[in-house]
Amino acid sequence: MGKLDGRVVIITGAARGQGEQEARLFAAEGAKVVVADVLDDQGEAVAKEIGNALYVHLDVSKEEEWGAAVAAAKAAFGKVDGLVNNAGILRFNELVSTPLDEFMQIVNVNQVGAFLGIKNVAPEIAEAGGGSIVNTASYTGVTGMAYVGAYAATKHAIVGLTKVAALELAARNIRVNAVCPGAIDTAMSNPAQLDPNANTEESAAALDGLYRKLVPLGRVGRPEEVARLALFLTAQEDSAYITGQPFVIDGGWLAGVSVL
Ligand SMILES: NC(=O)c1ccc[n+]([C@@H]2O[C@H](COP(=O)([O-])OP(=O)(O)OC[C@H]3O[C@@H](n4cnc5c(N)ncnc54)[C@H](O)[C@@H]3O)[C@@H](O)[C@H]2O)c1
Repeated sequence: MGKLDGRVVIITGAARGQGEQEARLFAAEGAKVVVADVLDDQGEAVAKEIGNALYVHLDVSKEEEWGAAVAAAKAAFGKVDGLVNNAGILRFNELVSTPLDEFMQIVNVNQVGAFLGIKNVAPEIAEAGGGSIVNTASYTGVTGMAYVGAYAATKHAIVGLTKVAALELAARNIRVNAVCPGAIDTAMSNPAQLDPNANTEESAAALDGLYRKLVPLGRVGRPEEVARLALFLTAQEDSAYITGQPFVIDGGWLAGVSVL
């Protein structure tokens, strides 16, 4: 028996990275998964490989696309009772050099996207009798980091949204929590993954080297590890009494100052 038997979960940004691993793990645990992304070819391929999954094109910053995605999910699987707001983008810039357009682009995808997900999917989850929402914040949602000001602002906002949504949706039997990953080995933190000629094992080893000193557990995180946390927060029997909380998954990075 799977932990998500009978559940229908929309996962945004599921064409690659953490979202892809969440889609694969959730399906392995019995869920019907709606793989949502703007990378259509990759998303289609992931859904096809999983089987019993549906790909939908969804730019999370566009409200009308949320309506269409929810309708497609219901047409395919009859209901929606889970959401993982995972889609996100990162840009590096000093605050004083950040163009307003760049700041707003990050807000629109990361912050507005999570808001629209809650707004459009929560009523469906309520209609299905209850369920869960997992938002993807970051360790920069609970502390600062130089040169990612716009990103960190949106991730702090996601933690706030998570708490308010948990308060407002508890009576409708919907739990809302957030994952706050540290450094995870995906295309976002390791763009070499996008280069077909790159040796990804080598680049992962380079990342591990970088984080060996910074992170107490001595390595970069794996997207599968974040997927396991998202599964825990989605599975009713594992996290039935947990709502409104950010969960840091960072190999101990935020625990304190490491002695090198
Ligand atoms: N990798 C890390 O170190 C790290 C750390 C903390 C938090 N996060 C967060 O985890 C989440 C997943 O990131 P990842 O590491 O897997 O990176 P990734 O870049 O591999 O995946 C992000 C996915 O989101 C999709 N996406 C981007 N804009 C979108 C939009 N407008 N609508 C729909 N989909 C969109 C991308 O196409 C991609 O498939 C993000 O929210 C990110 O901010 C990542």
